[in-house]
Amino acid sequence: MNATPNPPDITTSSERLPLCAQTNVSPTAATSSGSSLELRSVSFFGRTLAEYTQFFALDIAALKGKSVLDVGAGPSSFTAEACKRGVDAVAVDPLYGCRPEALAQHVQIDYRAMFAQMRAKPGLFRLKKTFASIDEAEESRRTAAQRFLTDYEAQFVHNRYVGAALPQLPFLDRAFDVVLCAHFLFLYSKQFDFAFQVEACRELVRVSRDDVRIHPVLGLGGKRYTQLEELRAALAADGIVSEIVPVDYEFFAGADEMLVLQRV
Ligand SMILES: C[S@@+](CC[C@H](N)C(=O)[O-])C[C@H]1O[C@@H](n2cnc3c(N)ncnc32)[C@H](O)[C@@H]1O
Repeated sequence: MNATPNPPDITTSSERLPLCAQTNVSPTAATSSGSSLELRSVSFFGRTLAEYTQFFALDIAALKGKSVLDVGAGPSSFTAEACKRGVDAVAVDPLYGCRPEALAQHVQIDYRAMFAQMRAKPGLFRLKKTFASIDEAEESRRTAAQRFLTDYEAQFVHNRYVGAALPQLPFLDRAFDVVLCAHFLFLYSKQFDFAFQVEACRELVRVSRDDVRIHPVLGLGGKRYTQLEELRAALAADGIVSEIVPVDYEFFAGADEMLVLQRV
């Protein structure tokens, strides 16, 4: 059992739906103990632009007219909301390409599991910077998923939502001004090993012109990713500079930083 908590982006295997053929996400069992959670599958769970703005310290007005890629976007409404504000946003997820009804079912199952965990283990969270209560967080994230589902149905054919999986993205070098990746890298380091994490970071930098932002910088057990310094050294050897930047946001206990990557 871990002494410190893991973020609970989990679902239970018995409820997990079959995934689309093109995805390399392998759903497996998730278990939990009294004070920690074992993440064995990546959940289809998403947040709003307001939360993205906080955990990535974004200035949305400054991004107007720029291209932004959200990788591992899930049912987040960042892309739908950012596009409405004049940002040229594109989202990537292995599950994109599934029918909207199938994604809606993933949302239904994963959200139910997530919020049950959150209510059972409130001690794993420090959400006061963003929400008054778990109820408010749930309402916000359900709104995000609803906005996403509506936009996905309308925009998938326009390549606003692209089905793809790290560590390979179907975009040209430097295709986007800014590249974001939230609640995927490092968190699932049991399923995605160190080599994957390094390769994924390189790929995010390859498709970016300016900076890559990754949040949180947590690995297993609610602590900073244990191989973070090794990862930064591997990236530095490739000419990629990295910085750990504090952010004015904390939802999972300890998740108050982002990793910023830039090509030298
Ligand atoms: C917990 S969600 C995070 C969603 C959103 N970024 C947010 O912070 O609200 C993680 C997402 O990563 C996606 N994912 C799983 N494997 C992936 C891979 N190899 N490359 C990119 N995304 C992946 C999952 O399908 C899921 O939608």
